[in-house]
Amino acid sequence: MVDPGTLVVGASQAGLQVAASLRERGDTSPVTVVGAEPHPPYQRPPLSKELLHGGDPAMTTLRTPAWYADADVQLRLGERVVDLVMSRDDGGGTATTDTGRELEFARLALAVGARHRRLDVPGADLAGICYLRELSEAQRLRHELAAARHVVVVGGGFIGLEVAAAARAGGADVTVVEATDRLLSRAVAPVVSEFYRAAHERRGTTVLLSSVVTGFLPVGPTGARGRVTGDTVRVGAVALGDGRELPADLVVVGIGVIPRTELAERIGLACDGGIVVDACARTSRVGVVAAGDCTVQPHPMGGLGRVRLESVPNAVAQGSAAAATLLGRPEPITTVPWFWSYQGDLRLQIAGLSAGWDRLVVRGDPVTEKFSVLYYSEGTLLAVDAVNTPLDYMLVRRTLEQGGSIPADAAADSTVPLRSLVVAVARGLS
Ligand code: APR
Repeated sequence: MVDPGTLVVGASQAGLQVAASLRERGDTSPVTVVGAEPHPPYQRPPLSKELLHGGDPAMTTLRTPAWYADADVQLRLGERVVDLVMSRDDGGGTATTDTGRELEFARLALAVGARHRRLDVPGADLAGICYLRELSEAQRLRHELAAARHVVVVGGGFIGLEVAAAARAGGADVTVVEATDRLLSRAVAPVVSEFYRAAHERRGTTVLLSSVVTGFLPVGPTGARGRVTGDTVRVGAVALGDGRELPADLVVVGIGVIPRTELAERIGLACDGGIVVDACARTSRVGVVAAGDCTVQPHPMGGLGRVRLESVPNAVAQGSAAAATLLGRPEPITTVPWFWSYQGDLRLQIAGLSAGWDRLVVRGDPVTEKFSVLYYSEGTLLAVDAVNTPLDYMLVRRTLEQGGSIPADAAADSTVPLRSLVVAVARGLS
């Protein structure tokens, strides 16, 4: 029987990585990548950074057309897989796309990503309310930002703050509305949140914490407020829970993402806030792997439950692991997670996972806009947040990768270079 090969659902960073790693590992069977967006796989991080500061959209493209031809990887773009039927116990089956096409496969990789969480309040359908996850949304937002004077950003997470920095750099007045009592609360400690609040305010952005958006109000062509009459009416103001109305000719909502698990659920895969995979990207079904933002995986330090890692490095590591698994040579991921968020000139780099920390060491003074925060649990180094201190970031990342540590008491003295404090722990450092 002819091998129908591997079907990768999702032309994402993770999906492309599965295809590329299959080829790098010597697989010569057919590989098809199906993507709902019309664009070939691209990088998302620049969408909220370089692209909004005027960068060329072409810079986001991950591979050239020649690469796909040389690698013999079939791309089917602008086509969404809407159904999966598993006909064999070893991972084989048939996918149906929204054009009615049927694609047979012997092995399946799900790299379907996540969708943005929508803010469901009155006025949510007004024009001028934007979200940012896909290239087409970034292009539209860039166009909108060029004309915007009053920008309200809902959500003080990575997307919100990166967009706020770009909007402010473009000269708009900018207000960030965050529901919790601090910025970036999902990712960083309060000292870093407070730094970002102050730093954005120094650049002229207004940050409202513990603030709830209750609705978006329309404005008619004459500037008078009117009723919501359809999606051609543009937003004119944002209503807050405390009764205030913020003028807004552009709203950007960045309140997190929801992993896409529908297809996985259709074929009975275990899901728990994401498609459950192990460290080799294996799902609960033989022959089916998953990678990227749609997955939850074991915490890299073990015994700490599962985590969902929304990052390019994770997409690459899982995509590669998924390919190895599909070829029958599983290799667990051993890399340390890392992340970055460039908010204008405020460059945050994160290595490791800080959740569960019981001690912080702050090196440097946040007022200088150059400092790093080391996170510990029971004396074990967990992670670093490095703000405009790339050397601290690199050093901690390498230390974690090599199983070393940096004693907290010694690290607290910022006059001592971090690199002189690294000690071997588990496997020993040279
Ligand atoms: N109103 C205001 N703020 C809200 C609301 C709301 N209704 N709901 C949630 N928030 C806040 C959260 O408290 C959090 O601070 O929105 C923020 C969302 O931050 P993230 O979870 O980091 O999500 P987002 O910024 O949308 O980023 C989504 O894109 O760049 C990537 O790494 C990023 O993977 C992440 C994804």
